[in-house]
Amino acid sequence: MKYVIGIDLGTSATKTVLFDEKGTTVASASREYELLQPHNGWAEQNPSDWYDAAIETLSKVVSDSGVNKIDIVSIGISGQMHGLVMLDEECNVLRPSILWCDQRTGKECDELTEILGREKLIEITANPALTGFTASKILWVKNNEPEIFEKCRHILLPKDYLRFRLTGEFATEVSDASGMQILDVPQRKWSKVMIDALSIKEEYLAKVYESPEITGYINSDTAKKTGLSTATSVVGGAGDNAAAAVGMGVVEEGKAFTTIGTSGVVFAHTDNPVIDPKGRVHTFCCAVPGAWHVMGVTQGAGLSLQWFKNNFCGEESVQAASEGKDVYVITDAKASEIAIGCDKLLYLPYLMGERTPHLDPDCRGVFFGLSAIHTRSHFIRAIMEGVTYSLYDCLLVLKEMGINPQSMLLCGGGGKSKLWKGMICDTFDMPVLTTKSSEGPALGVAILAAVGSGIYPDVATACNAMIPDEAKISNPDSTNTAKYREYHAVYSSLYNSLKENYKELAKLR
Ligand code: XUL
Repeated sequence: MKYVIGIDLGTSATKTVLFDEKGTTVASASREYELLQPHNGWAEQNPSDWYDAAIETLSKVVSDSGVNKIDIVSIGISGQMHGLVMLDEECNVLRPSILWCDQRTGKECDELTEILGREKLIEITANPALTGFTASKILWVKNNEPEIFEKCRHILLPKDYLRFRLTGEFATEVSDASGMQILDVPQRKWSKVMIDALSIKEEYLAKVYESPEITGYINSDTAKKTGLSTATSVVGGAGDNAAAAVGMGVVEEGKAFTTIGTSGVVFAHTDNPVIDPKGRVHTFCCAVPGAWHVMGVTQGAGLSLQWFKNNFCGEESVQAASEGKDVYVITDAKASEIAIGCDKLLYLPYLMGERTPHLDPDCRGVFFGLSAIHTRSHFIRAIMEGVTYSLYDCLLVLKEMGINPQSMLLCGGGGKSKLWKGMICDTFDMPVLTTKSSEGPALGVAILAAVGSGIYPDVATACNAMIPDEAKISNPDSTNTAKYREYHAVYSSLYNSLKENYKELAKLR
């Protein structure tokens, strides 16, 4: 039997899972780290925290599994997308990484749009200039920390920094590179036009591979620290959403999934690089060679509920600890007692600005419709409904583009909630399925590792062999759909009413 490992470098933790070649989990470990928010709207992390978490979890799965290191043939890495890691000539990290949810680069996005024009940007990178993406973060460093920009010799994404530490190779792959806004997405290679616009050199960027290709091998330092072999390869891997897609078998036209993690995503596979001319959803290369995906992003999905839980749910946390339950099981139960619409309480989940459909870094979270009747349970449910409406907005844009999935797979931490699953099912008005495996992106990149190391000939065959096929299905209830849709209509109108107020608020110091 051969074994593969998937590492998922997430925003809140790194999770490492060792699978056998049939996709069975043999050992798993995770380690959390801090999200730094030095200013309002900023989000950073220390790349050394990711490396420490990867070494600790790799060592743990290798030793817990008891598998002979020679049989661990390959590793895939998945990661939070878009983060900027800059290294100097000696490969030292120059500053904390600026993450996907950081919103500081509004000015730089305007600058990029001015240099290239919105149409040209969309033509090359398949997306308009966005605060979340890496390109505007590079310009921000150039404009605000010129001494750091001068010293920069390597530009990497979070998972590719980890790859560099584990293998010594500067490599990336098409799915994650698509989110840098430097890749020519239809052509699947770096764009000279974008490189020039950012005043960088192509040699600063990593070599681009397709996601299942081998990019290097575990170096002797990593082998010594983790118990892995230097014969173990590391394949390209994928950005977290492209990886989750592979982990759920969303690898052919017509298939789609929704994830509720820190961010939320509605993702559809496509054989062609279809682009929304308004740029409201992203078109990226996917982890299947020669294919793409289209996805809408809700910036603050699970993040919204986590924020509320951390700040206002002390009582639920105490109850969870005393009953030995996950706190979200308790919050779920409380929200289930409240009727659809939360007695007219609505929530806009814009805690970190918003991408789909507004593309607005200045919009902020809102509770609307407060009355003296409302309790903490109403707030919890309103947050879950607001996130669902935002994900529904993503689906509506996909539909406008002619992408019409007939069912939806659901994953991520939020996907474990029966209540949230029901809300998605009723609001989207389509069958929603959850899979047996909860390993998501880690399984996805382990599948890519199994392809890269030759266990399986291609991604679809590996998915068939490694994904457990038992899935739980929920069907929509038309009475609920009608109620959710009424509230969604009011929800949708709120952004337009507040748009100018958000701008005014953003101007205040
Ligand atoms: C996708 C995105 C997030 C991050 C963090 O564009 O920004 O999904 O990858 O998970």
